[in-house]
Amino acid sequence: MLGSIYRCWILGAAVLVCACETIPVEPPEDALVLKGEDLFFNETFSGNGRTCGSCHRAEDNFAIAPAFVATLDDDDTLFVAESNPALASNFENPVLMRELALILENQDGFGDLENNFNMRGVPHTLALRTSIASNAGPRTGWSGDGAPGDGTLRSFAVGAVIQHYPKTLNRIDGVDFRLPTDDELDALEAFQLSLGRQEELALPLNLQGVIASRGQEIFLDNTLGKCNACHANAGANGDPAIFGPGAGNLNFNTGVEALPDQPADLTGEKNPPDDGFGSPGTGEFNTPTLVEAADTGPFFHNNSVETIEGAVAFYNGDAFNNSPAGQLLIGATGSGINLDATQVIAVAAFLRVINALENLRASDALLETAMKYPRTNDRQATLILRATFELQDGADVLRGGGLHPKAASDIEDALRELDDALSGRNPARYVRAAREAMTSAKNRMEN
Ligand code: HEC
Ligand code: HEC
Repeated sequence: MLGSIYRCWILGAAVLVCACETIPVEPPEDALVLKGEDLFFNETFSGNGRTCGSCHRAEDNFAIAPAFVATLDDDDTLFVAESNPALASNFENPVLMRELALILENQDGFGDLENNFNMRGVPHTLALRTSIASNAGPRTGWSGDGAPGDGTLRSFAVGAVIQHYPKTLNRIDGVDFRLPTDDELDALEAFQLSLGRQEELALPLNLQGVIASRGQEIFLDNTLGKCNACHANAGANGDPAIFGPGAGNLNFNTGVEALPDQPADLTGEKNPPDDGFGSPGTGEFNTPTLVEAADTGPFFHNNSVETIEGAVAFYNGDAFNNSPAGQLLIGATGSGINLDATQVIAVAAFLRVINALENLRASDALLETAMKYPRTNDRQATLILRATFELQDGADVLRGGGLHPKAASDIEDALRELDDALSGRNPARYVRAAREAMTSAKNRMEN
């Protein structure tokens, strides 16, 4: 990359010459990651027009929620099944896609397209670095076996092209799509690993709000919330104190499939039970990270619960307590999970606050990288814009739970500064002001 600096030289008898000089500067971002980002958002692999970004939206936490689907034009590539006659049946269910952001997946193979499929939500691709490893090998997708073959992110990209990109349901390589090359897989993997949090939190955090603090205690308490056993440090890995050293990212059958009145079933659309991990499945699903959860609803593999409060309350019900995982917990601790309304709200408040803190961390990192680019650079504007998506989520998750109104106001101030940064000629000043407001927001929640 080239940048310019203003430099002066002293020539001979103190003659001062000053000029603007163009010099090579170190690019602020990794080239492989940038290549992967370009593939993720732009490469169609000679298929039906979709990209990874058709479902994993940068504007929506690299996932997609029903509210976001509703903002898309009818010619968006997400809806290709509605316009391409070859994909009209057994490829997607447009009703479930538009109402619940559910995507059709043939997890157990393409042998019987009419009957053998699952309807699943789109998981975000954030913080994968913290959860990809497991004693049982890499775990990807809601059931930990989304990738055909070895379960790695590289295999996942290949599986995604075959599942989501075909021009016809014959799914023939070289005709209906082309498979990614090794170099492309390396780049896609590097990009995905670069997204979001790179390290686990170290709980407990010194939270400033009384409700979220109590929620954190309940979350960590192995005789009360019992959440930390499976979601250690509110991440996706099992607690080594319970499941042994290097427990990693575990699979459980927590009974989500046994929930009564699931929204997808209420629509009357065909929605076969999802058998989870393996083929035929064990009924188990892979533990997701929770730091990134509050702003990425609806929750669980089938988008069956809209709110984070509802997702916490799930653990009180029969579906969980009668499930294999619930029974395991009863066997180990003498009881299941039984939180009262105030406790459900407290745990949800904790999850909202750690999510907002992560929004602030992520947007600050984006802004820091943005400001390494020369001003008026397009990439700088892209990164500032991405920081605004994170901040908006932070304000929304706090407001949605009635939490930390002053921190939410600080975040909204930061958003106004970033709007000015994006429209003005000198973003540095506005970005600095935004980051100050963000620090103030953070200190109100945790320090
Ligand atoms: C049509 C929508 C759609 C497209 C296009 C799509 N995905 Fe996905 N993605 C999903 C769904 C649905 C899941 C959940 C699948 C499962 O549970 O196995 C998923 C899961 C994932 C996961 C697992 C995340 C985790 O937390 O375990 C990764 C990684 C991923 N996709 C990467 C990609 C890549 C790379 C591409 C492009 C080559 C892509 N996806 C294209 C819908 C999509
Ligand atoms: C026995 C292990 C286990 C325990 C204990 C547990 N979870 Fe989970 N959690 C899971 C698994 C597995 C999933 C994925 C389930 C699915 O989608 O079918 C999950 C999913 C979630 C989700 C949805 C995340 C998303 O992105 O959709 C939330 C929220 C959640 N758990 C919160 C909690 C809370 C709060 C507690 C404590 C009250 C808790 N969990 C206890 C294993 C566990």
